[in-house]
Amino acid sequence: MSTILGIESTAHTFGVAVVKDGKVLSNVKHSYTTESGGIIPMEAAKHHELHKNELYFEALDKADLIGKEKEIDAIAFSQGPGLAPCLLEGLKFVKELAKKLGKPVVPVNHCVAHLEIGKITGAKDPVMLYASGANTQIIAYASGKYRVFGETLDIGVGNFIDTFARYAGIGFPGGPVIQSLAEKSRNYIELPYSVKGMDISLSGILTNLKQKLDKINNFDNNKKANTENAGLIVNNHVKLRANVNERGKVNYTLEDLAFSLQETVFAMLVEVSERALAHTGKKELLLGGGVACNKRLQEMCKIMCEERGAKFFVLENQFLVDNGAMIAFLGEIMFKAGIKISGKKIDKIDILPRQRTDDIKVVWK
Ligand code: ATP
Ligand code: FE2
Repeated sequence: MSTILGIESTAHTFGVAVVKDGKVLSNVKHSYTTESGGIIPMEAAKHHELHKNELYFEALDKADLIGKEKEIDAIAFSQGPGLAPCLLEGLKFVKELAKKLGKPVVPVNHCVAHLEIGKITGAKDPVMLYASGANTQIIAYASGKYRVFGETLDIGVGNFIDTFARYAGIGFPGGPVIQSLAEKSRNYIELPYSVKGMDISLSGILTNLKQKLDKINNFDNNKKANTENAGLIVNNHVKLRANVNERGKVNYTLEDLAFSLQETVFAMLVEVSERALAHTGKKELLLGGGVACNKRLQEMCKIMCEERGAKFFVLENQFLVDNGAMIAFLGEIMFKAGIKISGKKIDKIDILPRQRTDDIKVVWK
């Protein structure tokens, strides 16, 4: 029996959770968002500092641990990869808690945590399509490590969607807004399709989309940076289409671009996932990471799996986006395998902003 506290702070989200024997007792979080523009790492770190205490007590309360903190066996935290100021804020908090409670610390890799929490779906040995903000990888377990079979050669799919959204004047995170815009269109506008073996590339598609958006907006470069104008694009996109049509130049809207973006890029992700299933001979696909919340991506993966007789698994949204539960969940598995740092050695723990999934020796399997 072990009770693990999990702290997540790699990027936009500060999350705190309690997991006991593989069961999530509490999972609370607060995320940094913007009206327009992307993540500013120092601002996100300030956000974490502001919310950490209230989230900690909320997580304890929901797990019925207020006044019973000594029941906690260890504190797991996201050591990397992520944004350094955000990771540091999490580590500082973990060191304070470890001292206060006199508990050991379990350093967890954020990406492996996204994978391992997949176990609660019932998936046993899946190929995972890990589609999040900074990462887009096709991962499967083979001889002691999670191996990356394919990945993006440039930007992560979430960052790609967020960058396009930002260009259209939509705040952070852009993914959910792009999804709802896409649902309003069935007008496919051709975009470049970029699969290279098991890898994908997104920066060319991003440039192409920006050029198409420029045509809609017909704004000059200076105005593009002006978020007030950019905000108008989203609110007035229908009107803009009418204007554009009057000029007879462009016959598509922001919704059409959002739809075409999803259809193209998700087809690329599904293609490389299918190739990984064929290559590894595995029979399960697990979808994870924040972009996995997207209903159309889920639908396309499901259809592919049905067609090739594989099983499809996807987590609840609360476990797809960054969350403390996945950190506590993997923390517990590692703790039970004897991985923990105690006493004075805790002071020496550092963050690992560039740690890679395939750097981690999976000694707990
Ligand atoms: P990483 O795991 O690479 O560090 P991350 O920490 O940025 O990623 P996650 O919470 O796993 O974050 O994913 C956040 C991303 O998910 C954002 O880019 C956001 O736009 C995207 N996202 C969330 N919901 C949706 C959706 N419905 N459709 C598409 N993208 C979405
Ligand atoms: Fe993440």
